Amino acid sequence: MSHIERTLILVKPDGVARGLAGEVLRRVEAKGYTLAGAELLVPSEELLAQHYAEHVGKPFYAPLVEFMSSGPVLAIVAQGERVIEGFRVLAGETDPTTAAPGTIRGDFGRDWGAKVIQNIVHGSDSPQSAEREIALWFPQL
Ligand code: RTP
Ligand code: MG
Repeated sequence: MSHIERTLILVKPDGVARGLAGEVLRRVEAKGYTLAGAELLVPSEELLAQHYAEHVGKPFYAPLVEFMSSGPVLAIVAQGERVIEGFRVLAGETDPTTAAPGTIRGDFGRDWGAKVIQNIVHGSDSPQSAEREIALWFPQL
């Protein structure tokens, strides 16, 4: 049965600054997903407050917003068979120190001793999150 989905991928400021945007796109396309939208932008605090609404009030929230607005982010909408879960597998676990080799975070992430975990990419974590996040970042899609 076909489960074509869309997901929101972000190459975070650390990923763009380190020149890894192309590597992330390469892996997404090599896996067979297609691109439905892409934009380079410095996200506003309002956009991030909505994007990370589930984390408002947590100790890492303020450093997270500071980090995410510290430079350009490449926002991507990718489409494909079960792409939501599939991209989370490509990304690897949240903490890059222990993310598996072969994943984006496992191959390129490390602990920079920063105030918040910097882990190169974001990927929507459920169909509900994906639709909500795509509407926030790409209201035209
Ligand atoms: P993301 O939303 O960015 O795809 O990452 P995720 O689902 O793997 O992780 P999540 O729990 O949603 O956390 C969002 C982002 O916040 C930063 N974080 N830092 N203790 C910490 O310092 C901490 N916890 C979370 C990470 O950048 C994480 O990706
Ligand atoms: Mg998350």
